[in-house]
Amino acid sequence: MSVTRNMAESATFCNGVTSRTPAEKPEGIAMTSVIYTDADGTARTLEAAPGESVMTLATRNGIPGIVGDCGGVLSCATCHVFVDSDDIDMLEPMSDMEDEMLDGTAVDRADTSRLSCQIFPEKCSRDLHVTTPSMQE
Ligand code: FES
Repeated sequence: MSVTRNMAESATFCNGVTSRTPAEKPEGIAMTSVIYTDADGTARTLEAAPGESVMTLATRNGIPGIVGDCGGVLSCATCHVFVDSDDIDMLEPMSDMEDEMLDGTAVDRADTSRLSCQIFPEKCSRDLHVTTPSMQE
């Protein structure tokens, strides 16, 4: 069996996760909604494709408050978000590197802070709520 990939529509990050465009989403797999609330209280809801991070989904759709300067390789911390306290337990634990990077965010970290490039909605059992900080840089 051979596998053909359209490299123009996908990217593999250093953590081995492949980001795909919605066009590559396998049929029959439910999408997960991410609800982004900005610092002013405006909420926007987007559907994440399998393999897509919260950061990639946001930057692809112009969500304010998430920059993602490094493209998801854990070297900028401009993708900082506050995860809703009711949702934080459904995420995989953060790595030591993510924990270190959160000490360098523009807005001080909180107990539910995460880097959105390390959150993959497809692994969530339900919709995910995040709040973006007032600034990233
Ligand atoms: S996008 Fe740079 S650390 Fe997340």
